[in-house]
Amino acid sequence: MDLDVAPATRLRGTVAAPPDKSISHRAALLGAMASEPVRITGYLDAEDTNSTLAAVGALGALVDRSTDEIVVRGAGLREARETVAPIDVGNAGTLMRLLPGWLAGQEGRSFVLDGDASIRRRPVDRIAAPLRAMGAEVDATDERFPPFTVRGARLRSIAYDMPVASAQVKSCVLIAGLLAEGPTTVTEPHASRDHTERMLTRLGAAVHRNGRRVTVVPVDELVGGHLHVPGDPSSAAFWLAAAAIVPGAEIRVTNMGTNWTRIGFARVLERMGADIRGDLEAPDGDVIAPEEPVADVEVRASALRGTTVEGEEIPLAIDELPLVGLLGCFAEGETVVRGAEELRVKESDRIAAVVDGLNGLGGDLEALPAGFVVRGTGGLRGGVIDAAGDHRTAMLGAIAGLASREGVRVVGMEAAAVSYPGFTADLATLQT
Ligand code: S3P
Repeated sequence: MDLDVAPATRLRGTVAAPPDKSISHRAALLGAMASEPVRITGYLDAEDTNSTLAAVGALGALVDRSTDEIVVRGAGLREARETVAPIDVGNAGTLMRLLPGWLAGQEGRSFVLDGDASIRRRPVDRIAAPLRAMGAEVDATDERFPPFTVRGARLRSIAYDMPVASAQVKSCVLIAGLLAEGPTTVTEPHASRDHTERMLTRLGAAVHRNGRRVTVVPVDELVGGHLHVPGDPSSAAFWLAAAAIVPGAEIRVTNMGTNWTRIGFARVLERMGADIRGDLEAPDGDVIAPEEPVADVEVRASALRGTTVEGEEIPLAIDELPLVGLLGCFAEGETVVRGAEELRVKESDRIAAVVDGLNGLGGDLEALPAGFVVRGTGGLRGGVIDAAGDHRTAMLGAIAGLASREGVRVVGMEAAAVSYPGFTADLATLQT
Protein backbone atom coordinates (compact mmCIF):
# COMPACT_ATOMS: atom_id res chain seq x y z
CA MET A 1 0.00 0.00 0.00
CA ASP A 2 1.31 3.44 -0.96
CA LEU A 3 0.56 6.49 1.14
CA ASP A 4 0.81 10.03 -0.19
CA VAL A 5 1.62 12.53 2.51
CA ALA A 6 1.25 16.18 1.55
CA PRO A 7 3.12 18.99 3.33
CA ALA A 8 1.13 19.76 6.50
CA THR A 9 -0.63 23.08 6.58
CA ARG A 10 -1.70 22.37 10.12
CA LEU A 11 -0.33 19.86 12.63
CA ARG A 12 -1.84 20.23 16.06
CA GLY A 13 -3.59 18.29 18.73
CA THR A 14 -3.34 15.36 21.08
CA VAL A 15 -2.58 11.76 20.32
CA ALA A 16 -2.32 8.81 22.71
CA ALA A 17 0.93 6.88 22.40
CA PRO A 18 0.02 3.33 21.26
CA PRO A 19 0.94 0.54 23.69
CA ASP A 20 4.60 -0.33 24.04
CA LYS A 21 5.76 -3.15 21.79
CA SER A 22 8.78 -4.19 23.88
CA ILE A 23 6.77 -4.32 27.10
CA SER A 24 3.86 -6.15 25.46
CA HIS A 25 6.18 -8.93 24.23
CA ARG A 26 7.64 -9.30 27.70
CA ALA A 27 4.25 -9.33 29.42
CA ALA A 28 2.97 -12.18 27.24
CA LEU A 29 6.17 -14.15 27.51
CA LEU A 30 6.71 -13.82 31.25
CA GLY A 31 2.98 -14.37 31.75
CA ALA A 32 3.36 -17.69 29.93
CA MET A 33 6.15 -18.67 32.32
CA ALA A 34 4.21 -17.79 35.48
CA SER A 35 2.37 -20.29 37.63
CA GLU A 36 -0.53 -17.96 38.42
CA PRO A 37 -2.67 -16.00 35.95
CA VAL A 38 -1.21 -12.75 34.69
CA ARG A 39 -3.69 -10.04 33.71
CA ILE A 40 -2.34 -7.65 31.09
CA THR A 41 -3.98 -4.31 30.34
CA GLY A 42 -2.97 -2.04 27.47
CA TYR A 43 -1.45 -4.89 25.42
CA LEU A 44 -0.45 -3.79 21.90
CA ASP A 45 -2.74 -5.23 19.25
CA ALA A 46 -0.28 -5.35 16.34
CA GLU A 47 1.29 -8.02 14.14
CA ASP A 48 4.51 -8.43 16.15
CA THR A 49 2.85 -8.73 19.52
CA ASN A 50 0.14 -10.99 18.15
CA SER A 51 2.93 -13.32 17.04
CA THR A 52 4.00 -13.52 20.68
CA LEU A 53 0.49 -14.42 21.88
CA ALA A 54 0.27 -17.13 19.23
CA ALA A 55 3.72 -18.47 20.16
CA VAL A 56 3.01 -18.75 23.88
CA GLY A 57 -0.35 -20.34 23.05
CA ALA A 58 1.41 -22.97 20.95
CA LEU A 59 3.74 -23.65 23.89
CA GLY A 60 0.85 -24.43 26.23
CA ALA A 61 -0.17 -21.11 27.79
CA LEU A 62 -3.87 -20.24 27.73
CA VAL A 63 -4.52 -16.78 26.34
CA ASP A 64 -7.92 -15.19 27.04
CA ARG A 65 -8.42 -12.00 25.15
CA SER A 66 -11.26 -9.55 25.77
CA THR A 67 -11.62 -5.95 24.62
CA ASP A 68 -9.79 -4.37 27.50
CA GLU A 69 -7.48 -7.03 28.87
CA ILE A 70 -5.65 -10.26 28.20
CA VAL A 71 -5.32 -12.98 30.79
CA VAL A 72 -2.44 -15.40 30.30
CA ARG A 73 -2.55 -18.65 32.25
CA GLY A 74 1.01 -19.82 32.08
CA ALA A 75 2.39 -23.16 31.02
CA GLY A 76 4.78 -22.90 33.99
CA LEU A 77 8.47 -22.15 34.15
CA ARG A 78 9.65 -25.65 33.24
CA GLU A 79 6.59 -26.91 31.35
CA ALA A 80 6.66 -25.41 27.86
CA ARG A 81 5.11 -27.92 25.50
CA GLU A 82 6.89 -29.07 22.35
CA THR A 83 5.17 -27.87 19.18
CA VAL A 84 4.56 -29.92 16.05
CA ALA A 85 5.09 -27.05 13.61
CA PRO A 86 7.94 -24.53 13.94
CA ILE A 87 7.12 -21.57 16.18
CA ASP A 88 6.37 -18.67 13.85
CA VAL A 89 7.88 -15.41 15.17
CA GLY A 90 6.68 -13.50 12.08
CA ASN A 91 8.67 -10.26 11.87
CA ALA A 92 9.30 -9.97 15.62
CA GLY A 93 13.00 -9.82 16.50
CA THR A 94 12.27 -9.39 20.19
CA LEU A 95 10.18 -12.57 20.29
CA MET A 96 12.85 -14.45 18.37
CA ARG A 97 15.59 -13.41 20.80
CA LEU A 98 13.74 -13.58 24.13
CA LEU A 99 11.73 -16.77 23.77
CA PRO A 100 14.82 -19.03 23.41
CA GLY A 101 15.85 -17.98 26.92
CA TRP A 102 12.79 -19.81 28.26
CA LEU A 103 13.03 -22.72 25.83
CA ALA A 104 16.69 -23.33 26.65
CA GLY A 105 15.67 -24.44 30.15
CA GLN A 106 13.08 -27.03 29.01
CA GLU A 107 15.06 -30.18 29.73
CA GLY A 108 14.91 -32.82 27.01
CA ARG A 109 12.54 -30.89 24.73
CA SER A 110 13.38 -29.22 21.47
CA PHE A 111 11.87 -26.30 19.56
CA VAL A 112 12.24 -24.86 16.07
CA LEU A 113 11.81 -21.11 15.52
CA ASP A 114 11.22 -19.50 12.16
CA GLY A 115 9.70 -16.31 10.75
CA ASP A 116 9.25 -14.14 7.70
CA ALA A 117 11.84 -13.36 5.00
CA SER A 118 13.19 -10.34 6.91
CA ILE A 119 13.59 -12.25 10.17
CA ARG A 120 15.57 -14.91 8.29
CA ARG A 121 18.23 -12.25 7.67
CA ARG A 122 18.56 -11.32 11.36
CA PRO A 123 21.32 -12.92 13.44
CA VAL A 124 20.63 -15.24 16.35
CA ASP A 125 24.26 -16.15 17.08
CA ARG A 126 24.24 -13.38 19.69
CA ILE A 127 21.82 -15.42 21.82
CA ALA A 128 23.10 -18.82 20.75
CA ALA A 129 26.53 -18.15 22.29
CA PRO A 130 25.38 -17.48 25.89
CA LEU A 131 22.66 -20.17 25.76
CA ARG A 132 25.24 -22.75 24.66
CA ALA A 133 27.53 -21.62 27.47
CA MET A 134 24.62 -22.35 29.83
CA GLY A 135 24.27 -25.88 28.43
CA ALA A 136 21.51 -25.66 25.81
CA GLU A 137 22.06 -26.72 22.21
CA VAL A 138 21.29 -24.20 19.50
CA ASP A 139 21.58 -25.04 15.80
CA ALA A 140 21.10 -22.12 13.43
CA THR A 141 21.02 -21.89 9.65
CA ASP A 142 24.54 -21.02 8.44
CA GLU A 143 25.48 -20.87 12.16
CA ARG A 144 23.69 -17.52 12.49
CA PHE A 145 20.17 -17.27 11.13
CA PRO A 146 16.62 -18.64 11.50
CA PRO A 147 15.20 -21.17 11.18
CA PHE A 148 17.00 -22.46 14.24
CA THR A 149 16.52 -25.17 16.84
CA VAL A 150 16.82 -24.85 20.62
CA ARG A 151 17.29 -28.07 22.61
CA GLY A 152 16.53 -27.49 26.26
CA ALA A 153 18.82 -28.70 29.05
CA ARG A 154 19.52 -28.34 32.74
CA LEU A 155 21.15 -24.90 32.66
CA ARG A 156 24.39 -23.78 34.30
CA SER A 157 24.62 -20.25 35.58
CA ILE A 158 27.10 -18.00 33.78
CA ALA A 159 28.65 -14.56 33.94
CA TYR A 160 28.20 -13.20 30.44
CA ASP A 161 30.01 -10.17 29.02
CA MET A 162 27.86 -8.92 26.19
CA PRO A 163 29.91 -7.81 23.17
CA VAL A 164 27.13 -5.36 22.12
CA ALA A 165 24.61 -3.43 24.20
CA SER A 166 21.41 -5.31 23.39
CA ALA A 167 18.36 -5.51 25.60
CA GLN A 168 17.23 -8.53 23.64
CA VAL A 169 20.36 -10.50 24.42
CA LYS A 170 20.40 -9.31 28.04
CA SER A 171 16.76 -10.32 28.45
CA CYS A 172 17.30 -13.73 26.86
CA VAL A 173 20.12 -14.55 29.27
CA LEU A 174 18.22 -13.22 32.31
CA ILE A 175 15.18 -15.31 31.40
CA ALA A 176 17.35 -18.41 31.00
CA GLY A 177 18.96 -17.46 34.31
CA LEU A 178 15.60 -17.94 36.06
CA LEU A 179 15.94 -21.64 35.23
CA ALA A 180 19.67 -22.03 35.92
CA GLU A 181 21.39 -23.71 38.85
CA GLY A 182 22.71 -20.51 40.44
CA PRO A 183 22.81 -16.73 39.92
CA THR A 184 23.45 -15.54 36.36
CA THR A 185 25.13 -12.22 35.63
CA VAL A 186 25.09 -10.20 32.42
CA THR A 187 27.44 -7.26 31.90
CA GLU A 188 26.44 -4.72 29.27
CA PRO A 189 28.85 -2.27 27.63
CA HIS A 190 26.21 0.47 28.04
CA ALA A 191 22.82 0.45 29.74
CA SER A 192 20.01 -0.79 27.50
CA ARG A 193 16.26 -0.83 28.08
CA ASP A 194 15.45 -2.47 31.41
CA HIS A 195 11.83 -3.59 30.97
CA THR A 196 12.67 -7.23 31.61
CA GLU A 197 14.38 -6.43 34.90
CA ARG A 198 11.44 -4.29 36.04
CA MET A 199 8.84 -6.86 35.06
CA LEU A 200 10.72 -9.76 36.62
CA THR A 201 10.85 -7.79 39.86
CA ARG A 202 7.08 -7.35 39.70
CA LEU A 203 6.61 -11.07 39.15
CA GLY A 204 8.60 -11.95 42.24
CA ALA A 205 12.08 -12.72 40.86
CA ALA A 206 15.21 -11.32 42.49
CA VAL A 207 17.10 -9.12 40.03
CA HIS A 208 19.96 -6.85 41.08
CA ARG A 209 21.88 -4.19 39.23
CA ASN A 210 25.40 -3.11 40.05
CA GLY A 211 26.61 -0.59 37.50
CA ARG A 212 26.58 -2.32 34.12
CA ARG A 213 26.14 -5.76 35.74
CA VAL A 214 22.69 -7.30 36.14
CA THR A 215 22.21 -10.49 38.17
CA VAL A 216 19.18 -12.76 38.33
CA VAL A 217 18.65 -15.43 40.97
CA PRO A 218 16.86 -18.63 39.86
CA VAL A 219 13.28 -19.11 41.02
CA ASP A 220 10.93 -22.07 41.46
CA GLU A 221 8.11 -20.10 39.96
CA LEU A 222 7.04 -16.66 38.82
CA VAL A 223 3.98 -15.32 40.59
CA GLY A 224 1.07 -13.78 38.70
CA GLY A 225 -0.57 -10.41 39.02
CA HIS A 226 -1.43 -7.41 36.93
CA LEU A 227 0.89 -5.95 34.30
CA HIS A 228 0.02 -2.68 32.62
CA VAL A 229 1.61 -1.72 29.31
CA PRO A 230 2.31 2.02 28.97
CA GLY A 231 2.46 3.98 25.70
CA ASP A 232 5.44 3.34 23.45
CA PRO A 233 8.06 6.12 23.40
CA SER A 234 9.42 4.73 20.12
CA SER A 235 6.03 5.16 18.45
CA ALA A 236 5.49 8.53 20.17
CA ALA A 237 8.86 9.66 18.81
CA PHE A 238 7.37 10.05 15.33
CA TRP A 239 4.98 12.71 16.64
CA LEU A 240 7.64 14.40 18.75
CA ALA A 241 9.82 14.65 15.65
CA ALA A 242 6.95 15.87 13.47
CA ALA A 243 6.05 18.60 15.97
CA ALA A 244 9.68 19.75 16.06
CA ILE A 245 10.06 20.18 12.28
CA VAL A 246 6.66 21.17 10.86
CA PRO A 247 6.32 24.96 11.06
CA GLY A 248 3.67 26.04 13.57
CA ALA A 249 3.12 22.47 14.85
CA GLU A 250 2.14 21.68 18.41
CA ILE A 251 1.52 18.08 19.53
CA ARG A 252 0.75 16.57 22.89
CA VAL A 253 1.39 12.84 23.22
CA THR A 254 -0.43 11.34 26.19
CA ASN A 255 0.44 8.24 28.20
CA MET A 256 3.99 7.97 26.88
CA GLY A 257 6.34 5.60 28.71
CA THR A 258 9.19 7.69 30.12
CA ASN A 259 11.47 4.93 31.43
CA TRP A 260 14.90 6.59 31.28
CA THR A 261 16.34 3.68 29.31
CA ARG A 262 13.94 4.49 26.44
CA ILE A 263 13.92 8.26 26.17
CA GLY A 264 17.31 8.94 24.64
CA PHE A 265 15.52 10.46 21.65
CA ALA A 266 13.64 12.99 23.78
CA ARG A 267 16.97 14.02 25.33
CA VAL A 268 18.55 14.42 21.87
CA LEU A 269 15.57 16.50 20.75
CA GLU A 270 15.99 18.73 23.80
CA ARG A 271 19.70 19.18 23.05
CA MET A 272 18.94 20.11 19.45
CA GLY A 273 16.90 23.01 20.79
CA ALA A 274 13.37 21.60 20.53
CA ASP A 275 10.64 23.02 22.71
CA ILE A 276 9.76 19.81 24.58
CA ARG A 277 7.92 19.57 27.90
CA GLY A 278 7.08 16.56 30.02
CA ASP A 279 8.13 14.72 33.11
CA LEU A 280 10.86 12.37 31.85
CA GLU A 281 12.32 9.79 34.24
CA ALA A 282 15.87 10.48 35.44
CA PRO A 283 18.45 7.65 35.49
CA ASP A 284 17.91 5.71 38.69
CA GLY A 285 21.39 4.37 39.45
CA ASP A 286 21.26 0.77 40.61
CA VAL A 287 17.62 0.79 41.65
CA ILE A 288 15.33 -1.47 39.60
CA ALA A 289 11.93 0.20 39.76
CA PRO A 290 9.11 -2.32 39.41
CA GLU A 291 6.94 0.30 37.68
CA GLU A 292 7.06 1.81 34.22
CA PRO A 293 6.58 5.59 34.49
CA VAL A 294 4.33 7.50 32.05
CA ALA A 295 3.75 11.16 31.28
CA ASP A 296 2.19 13.47 28.72
CA VAL A 297 4.85 15.04 26.53
CA GLU A 298 4.40 18.16 24.41
CA VAL A 299 6.51 19.47 21.56
CA ARG A 300 6.20 22.75 19.62
CA ALA A 301 8.07 23.60 16.43
CA SER A 302 11.30 25.50 16.93
CA ALA A 303 14.69 26.06 15.34
CA LEU A 304 17.01 23.05 15.67
CA ARG A 305 20.80 22.79 15.74
CA GLY A 306 22.92 19.77 14.85
CA THR A 307 24.29 17.42 17.48
CA THR A 308 26.32 14.24 17.89
CA VAL A 309 24.76 11.06 19.23
CA GLU A 310 27.20 8.37 20.32
CA GLY A 311 28.40 6.13 23.16
CA GLU A 312 25.98 5.40 25.96
CA GLU A 313 23.21 7.39 24.28
CA ILE A 314 23.00 4.92 21.36
CA PRO A 315 21.13 2.06 23.09
CA LEU A 316 18.81 4.57 24.78
CA ALA A 317 17.67 5.85 21.38
CA ILE A 318 18.41 2.84 19.18
CA ASP A 319 15.07 2.61 17.37
CA GLU A 320 14.77 6.39 17.02
CA LEU A 321 18.16 7.01 15.37
CA PRO A 322 16.58 7.17 11.88
CA LEU A 323 14.45 10.04 13.21
CA VAL A 324 17.63 11.79 14.37
CA GLY A 325 18.65 11.63 10.69
CA LEU A 326 15.38 13.32 9.73
CA LEU A 327 15.77 16.06 12.37
CA GLY A 328 19.31 16.61 11.10
CA CYS A 329 17.95 17.58 7.67
CA PHE A 330 16.07 20.45 9.32
CA ALA A 331 18.78 21.49 11.79
CA GLU A 332 21.51 24.03 11.41
CA GLY A 333 24.95 22.49 10.97
CA GLU A 334 25.91 18.83 11.09
CA THR A 335 24.20 16.02 12.93
CA VAL A 336 26.26 12.88 13.49
CA VAL A 337 25.33 9.39 14.73
CA ARG A 338 28.34 7.19 15.57
CA GLY A 339 28.93 3.79 17.14
CA ALA A 340 25.55 2.47 16.03
CA GLU A 341 26.59 -0.61 14.01
CA GLU A 342 23.55 -2.38 15.49
CA LEU A 343 21.41 -0.38 13.06
CA ARG A 344 22.72 -2.64 10.30
CA VAL A 345 20.89 -5.67 11.72
CA LYS A 346 17.43 -4.28 12.49
CA GLU A 347 14.29 -4.97 10.41
CA SER A 348 16.42 -3.56 7.58
CA ASP A 349 19.92 -2.09 7.37
CA ARG A 350 18.74 1.14 8.92
CA ILE A 351 21.93 3.04 8.11
CA ALA A 352 21.36 2.40 4.41
CA ALA A 353 17.60 2.94 4.80
CA VAL A 354 17.91 6.35 6.42
CA VAL A 355 20.76 7.60 4.21
CA ASP A 356 19.32 6.41 0.89
CA GLY A 357 15.74 7.12 1.95
CA LEU A 358 16.32 10.73 3.03
CA ASN A 359 18.79 11.48 0.21
CA GLY A 360 16.03 10.39 -2.16
CA LEU A 361 13.86 13.10 -0.63
CA GLY A 362 16.50 15.80 -1.14
CA GLY A 363 18.55 15.36 2.06
CA ASP A 364 22.35 15.50 2.31
CA LEU A 365 23.41 12.43 4.29
CA GLU A 366 26.50 10.28 4.20
CA ALA A 367 26.76 6.77 5.58
CA LEU A 368 29.51 5.89 8.06
CA PRO A 369 30.41 2.27 8.87
CA ALA A 370 28.46 2.57 12.14
CA GLY A 371 26.26 5.61 11.67
CA PHE A 372 25.75 8.61 9.43
CA VAL A 373 26.42 12.32 9.00
CA VAL A 374 23.64 14.71 8.04
CA ARG A 375 24.31 18.18 6.69
CA GLY A 376 21.32 20.34 7.53
CA THR A 377 19.88 22.07 4.49
CA GLY A 378 16.92 23.66 6.25
CA GLY A 379 14.36 21.26 4.83
CA LEU A 380 13.51 18.42 2.46
CA ARG A 381 12.17 18.57 -1.06
CA GLY A 382 10.11 15.38 -0.97
CA GLY A 383 9.71 12.48 -3.39
CA VAL A 384 9.30 8.73 -2.99
CA ILE A 385 10.61 6.47 -0.22
CA ASP A 386 10.30 2.69 -0.15
CA ALA A 387 9.77 1.23 3.33
CA ALA A 388 11.20 -2.09 2.08
CA GLY A 389 9.25 -3.94 4.77
CA ASP A 390 10.58 -1.87 7.68
CA HIS A 391 7.83 -0.30 9.81
CA ARG A 392 10.06 2.48 11.11
CA THR A 393 11.16 3.51 7.61
CA ALA A 394 7.50 3.67 6.55
CA MET A 395 6.58 6.00 9.43
CA LEU A 396 9.78 8.05 8.97
CA GLY A 397 8.80 8.64 5.35
CA ALA A 398 5.33 9.81 6.34
CA ILE A 399 6.70 12.29 8.89
CA ALA A 400 9.22 13.52 6.31
CA GLY A 401 6.26 14.12 3.98
CA LEU A 402 4.50 16.37 6.51
CA ALA A 403 7.59 18.56 6.81
CA SER A 404 8.63 18.47 3.13
CA ARG A 405 8.09 21.12 0.47
CA GLU A 406 6.49 18.85 -2.13
CA GLY A 407 5.13 15.85 -0.23
CA VAL A 408 6.25 12.23 0.04
CA ARG A 409 4.90 8.98 -1.34
CA VAL A 410 5.63 6.09 1.04
CA VAL A 411 5.74 2.76 -0.77
CA GLY A 412 4.85 -0.14 1.53
CA MET A 413 3.07 1.81 4.27
CA GLU A 414 1.43 -1.43 5.47
CA ALA A 415 4.71 -2.28 7.23
CA ALA A 416 3.63 0.07 10.06
CA ALA A 417 1.15 -2.61 11.18
CA VAL A 418 3.81 -4.58 13.02
CA SER A 419 4.07 -1.90 15.71
CA TYR A 420 1.55 0.89 15.10
CA PRO A 421 -1.59 -0.13 13.20
CA GLY A 422 -3.32 3.20 13.99
CA PHE A 423 -0.50 5.34 12.61
CA THR A 424 -2.26 6.61 9.46
CA ALA A 425 -5.44 7.37 11.41
CA ASP A 426 -3.45 9.41 13.95
CA LEU A 427 -1.65 11.16 11.10
CA ALA A 428 -5.01 12.25 9.72
CA THR A 429 -6.38 13.31 13.13
CA LEU A 430 -3.45 15.62 13.83
CA GLN A 431 -4.04 17.44 10.53
CA THR A 432 -7.72 18.21 11.09
C1 S3P B 1 14.28 -4.38 21.88
C2 S3P B 1 15.61 -4.07 21.93
C3 S3P B 1 16.33 -3.41 20.85
C4 S3P B 1 15.37 -2.71 19.89
C5 S3P B 1 14.21 -3.57 19.50
C6 S3P B 1 13.43 -4.00 20.73
C7 S3P B 1 13.67 -5.08 23.01
O1 S3P B 1 17.06 -4.38 20.13
O2 S3P B 1 16.05 -2.28 18.73
O3 S3P B 1 13.35 -2.87 18.63
O4 S3P B 1 12.44 -5.13 23.10
O5 S3P B 1 14.42 -5.60 23.84
P1 S3P B 1 18.53 -4.84 20.63
O6 S3P B 1 18.39 -5.31 21.99
O7 S3P B 1 18.95 -5.95 19.75
O8 S3P B 1 19.38 -3.62 20.45
